[in-house]
Amino acid sequence: VSGRRRAGGAAPAPVRVRAAAAADGPAARGLLRENDELHAALAPGYFRAAGRDESEGAWRRLLDEPNGAVLVAATGAGGAVVGLVIVRVYDTPPDPTMVPRRRAHVDTLVVAAAERRRGVGRRLMDEAGVWARARGAEELVLTTWAGNEAAEAFYRRLGYAPRSTAWTRALP
Ligand SMILES: CC(C)(COP(=O)(O)OP(=O)(O)OC[C@H]1O[C@@H](n2cnc3c(N)ncnc32)[C@H](O)[C@@H]1OP(=O)(O)O)[C@@H](O)C(=O)NCCC(=O)NCCS
Repeated sequence: VSGRRRAGGAAPAPVRVRAAAAADGPAARGLLRENDELHAALAPGYFRAAGRDESEGAWRRLLDEPNGAVLVAATGAGGAVVGLVIVRVYDTPPDPTMVPRRRAHVDTLVVAAAERRRGVGRRLMDEAGVWARARGAEELVLTTWAGNEAAEAFYRRLGYAPRSTAWTRALP
C-alpha cells in the first residue's frame, strides 16, 4: 500500500504497514526509546526515559497479547521500519451508568524523527483503525500529554477531538 510524500510534486514514498514480527525487535526498541525520551521530557514526574524492559522476551510478550496488535511501517527498498503503533481493544466495564461499547486504544504511536511529515503516522493510524474495526471496536481513543503540540496538531488533522481532560496539581 502506498503512502504519500509531502513536498510539492515529490514522488510518493512507498509505506507498507504490517503486523510486527519478532525480527522487528531492534528497530522497535529504537522507536520506543524515542517515544520514552519524549514522554520523560514532557512529564518527568510520570515517565522514565530508560526504564523500559528491552529484552526479547518483553517484545515477544507484546506481540503475543491477545487483545492487542503491534503494527509497523516499513519504507524503502530494504523495508526499514520507521514507525510503530500499539493498539488494544477494551470493553466498557459492566456498569449500568455506562454505555456498553467496545473501543480501541492507541497506547503508543511513534514515527522516527527523520521520517516525520511524510504520511507515515497517518498510515499507521489508518491501519490501526482497520484492525480495530475488524475486532468490533466503534471508536479509537488515545491520550496526549500537555506540551506535545505536534501530536495534538496531528490528531486534530486526522479528525480526532478531545473528549476529557486530566487535571493535576502537586500537593503542598
Ligand atoms: C505525532 C507523529 C506520530 C506524527 O507522525 P507523522 O508521520 O509525522 O505524521 P503525518 O506525516 O502522517 O502527518 C499527517 C498530518 O498531521 C499534521 N501534522 C503532523 N505532524 C505535525 C506537526 N509537527 N505540526 C503540525 N501538524 C502536524 C499535518 O497536517 C500532517 O499533514 P502534512 O504533513 O501534509 O501537513 C510524530 O510526530 C511522532 O512520532 N511524534 C513523537 C511521538 C508522539 O508524540 N506520538 C503521539 C503521541 S503519544
